[in-house]
Amino acid sequence: MKKLVFLILPLLLLNACKVDPEISVEKNTGITEVIPTGWPAPKYTFSVNTLSEARFKLGRELFYDPILSLDNTISCGSCHQQATAFAHADHKFSHGIHDLLGKRNAPALFNLNWLPAFMHDGGINHIEVQPLGPITNPIEMAESMPNVMTKVKASAKYKSLYREAWGTDSMTSQGLFRAMAQFMGTMVSYNSKYDRYKRGETGATLSEQELRGYNLFLSKCNACHTEPLFSDYAYRSNGLSPDPYLQDSGRAHITSQASDRYKFKTPSLRNIAITQPYMHDGRYSTLQACLNHYTDNVKNQINLDPLLTPSGLALTADEKSDLIAFLYTLTDYQFITDEKFAEPHH
Ligand code: HEC
Ligand code: HEC
Repeated sequence: MKKLVFLILPLLLLNACKVDPEISVEKNTGITEVIPTGWPAPKYTFSVNTLSEARFKLGRELFYDPILSLDNTISCGSCHQQATAFAHADHKFSHGIHDLLGKRNAPALFNLNWLPAFMHDGGINHIEVQPLGPITNPIEMAESMPNVMTKVKASAKYKSLYREAWGTDSMTSQGLFRAMAQFMGTMVSYNSKYDRYKRGETGATLSEQELRGYNLFLSKCNACHTEPLFSDYAYRSNGLSPDPYLQDSGRAHITSQASDRYKFKTPSLRNIAITQPYMHDGRYSTLQACLNHYTDNVKNQINLDPLLTPSGLALTADEKSDLIAFLYTLTDYQFITDEKFAEPHH
């Protein structure tokens, strides 16, 4: 809770909120906060940033608008595509502005309200400031917030969207970021075959192979990729050998601690069948290759997670197939085809 206050306060001070009492803010909302039964409490709720359809809509427009980049060519949606659960389809590294390549793989985006921190190294710790990272990153969108504000303020479309959302004409970056948090934070993925099976919905069954995979998963993977989010979001080394060219020290990049070298945030395995390539640097293009890593390539290096050993996990070829069959049940087709999260058509 401390961190949250620490981050919001400076924003509030910078943008003292002047709500014009004359303009009524839309209250009714079809956009709701979803907390699936049996899940832990989210880290971020909309208790302060009250949800409304108009705010969500503003956030959605911004997410898909290249206006947030320096040369108006790249939107958040360029690298985070709905069909692949908001990962960057088939891109090892994301192409940003001027076709510049980043050093890390774009993660899928869903269930973000449960994340204690963002990015592979946890370098950003609040969803309401998260967009500032990519917007100002020189190889992603390479823009500055003052420029973004100038462009957005000059747009008749945003003037009207903003007024409907926040009931005022004086735009602040906080108003934009909070709207984006409403769009991203309501992207909850909880309707995979696995979820329907767990909820005991009629007709939702797992095949024998999927069930074998599920049991293997619980014994070999769940300690880190913990149900129901399929991650506990801790920073760990799963024994990938560091890429000598990328020199990515992971969590240590943020903390400067030797004990954090080569640790990365444990990713969720929800929607994993559609978010290739895999790992922070996109080094593997198939789930089979990821499993081969765990059986054959776990490197005995500094900070290797104590839950893994240098000899790796023991899995037969059949067990790998079973595990992969189970991982496929984690794809949420409802989420990736949900119109509310799609690029708006005008
Ligand atoms: C050029 C491609 C690119 C663009 C454009 C981009 N992102 Fe990303 N995004 C990435 C990459 C790569 C990462 C991982 C970065 C890291 O770990 O250092 C990421 C990480 C994230 C995360 C953290 C997810 C997690 O699991 O920790 C969020 C949220 C996010 N981006 C939202 C956005 C938003 C909002 C925008 C638009 C303002 C945006 N992205 C624009 C490539 C991109
Ligand atoms: C010791 C903790 C740990 C265990 C056990 C573990 N993983 Fe991981 N896994 C991680 C971490 C950490 C990463 C992220 C590594 C990176 O990006 O550098 C990861 C990444 C992955 C990825 C890539 C995810 C993505 O979005 O790119 C897959 C797939 C995966 N693990 C599957 C499994 C499976 C299946 C098992 C069980 C056989 C398993 N893991 C066991 C910690 C673990």
